[in-house]
Amino acid sequence: MIQKPKGTKDILPECSYKWAYVEEKAKEILENYGFKEIRVPVFEQTELFERGVGDTTDVVQKEMYTFLDKGERSITLRPEGTAGVVRAYIENGMASLPSPTKMWYMMPMYRYENVQKGRYREFRQIGAEIIGTASYKADVELIVMADQIIKKFNIPGVILNINSIGCPTCRKKYQEALKEFIGKNIEQYCGTCKTRFEKNPMRILDCKEKKCKELNQGAPIILDYLCEECSAHFENVKRALEKLKIDYVIDSGIVRGLDYYTKTVFEFVSETEGYTVLAGGRYDGLVEELGGQKTEAIGFAMGEDRLIDIFEKYNQTQEVAIRKPDLYIASIGEVAEEAVSTLALELRKNELYIETDICERSMKASLKYADKMNAKFLMVMGEDEVNAGKAKIKNMTTGEETQTELEVRKIIENIK
Ligand code: HAM
Repeated sequence: MIQKPKGTKDILPECSYKWAYVEEKAKEILENYGFKEIRVPVFEQTELFERGVGDTTDVVQKEMYTFLDKGERSITLRPEGTAGVVRAYIENGMASLPSPTKMWYMMPMYRYENVQKGRYREFRQIGAEIIGTASYKADVELIVMADQIIKKFNIPGVILNINSIGCPTCRKKYQEALKEFIGKNIEQYCGTCKTRFEKNPMRILDCKEKKCKELNQGAPIILDYLCEECSAHFENVKRALEKLKIDYVIDSGIVRGLDYYTKTVFEFVSETEGYTVLAGGRYDGLVEELGGQKTEAIGFAMGEDRLIDIFEKYNQTQEVAIRKPDLYIASIGEVAEEAVSTLALELRKNELYIETDICERSMKASLKYADKMNAKFLMVMGEDEVNAGKAKIKNMTTGEETQTELEVRKIIENIK
């Protein structure tokens, strides 16, 4: 039997309604903040991610699904959404729109990861990007919205960690200090870290190797090197979050795994699961890096697979239930069968969920199926009922039976 590729999953009907619920609720919140949907290609030119995400990141060096297409072009399945969204922003001249541009997306991403709990090779993100504002107020609005989305799903034990990783100006001094610290033990670091030492020493802080993590203990922290502007920006963000009573923890260890970040970075971490559910930050240099005008921006992405894994654990609410048939209509004989088809069509047009037999089942098997499907009401129609224009309708929960005329309006009244 052919099996699905490692790190992918089938989202079956018994579960997909939860995904639909999460997407619907998240979308409501995103749109209340003025975000509009954007959809970008699943694959892009590889160069977009090399330049956007950064060629010394794990994502680019180790995790991309890259291949040559039949025209010998290097193509990559998107490992994240921001680079593609920014490319679309530039390519479609969106800078001429009223600023800022707020966009959301729900898209699958692809990373060749070591598969483990909460870490897949195909996974879905719900993301939001605000392009065209340098103000700390955008950081605050975005973090508050992210907090609202997380809280909407009643997930316990999620904490917000924030940090600032400064701008290229403060980073210069910081990188010197970092190189001095790491340089003392560089021989003991892994091969990847050694190659990153000259080009991008901050990436070494993001290394997942146990030995490198140990060596990184006590490394200088960027917060001590922030320039005046970055420092003021961070103070403003913190103050505004406090005013809005959004709890946060400063985690000077957050460097993020993608190169485009500047200033504010943040992660919503599930303490119970031990992984990050939503993460993001400012990326003030990315639009320019990808060929646009200097345009400041900030965004986040939520790992939908992770959110749903936790959501399933803690939520058994009525609101999130698989839909049950409002009415099962069984028929006896050809005349009734035709009448049932017409009636079912009319009821469905009125947005009722109607089931009828499409398997040529016996009456006994039909009733059994209606029961298995947890139909709320049951109606049996034969020729007599059709001729009389009336039938009995049974409430499957109470067992109560009432007589109804075979008119859409009357049936709806009975069901409601
Ligand atoms: P990221 O931190 O790489 O950021 O991913 C964001 C979220 O996607 C993670 O916090 C996690 O919940 C989920 N995620 C990442 N990798 C996996 C995986 N292999 N399996 C399951 N879930 C995963 C970004 O992607 C940035 N583009 C976010 C952003 C938007 N920054 C600014 N704008």
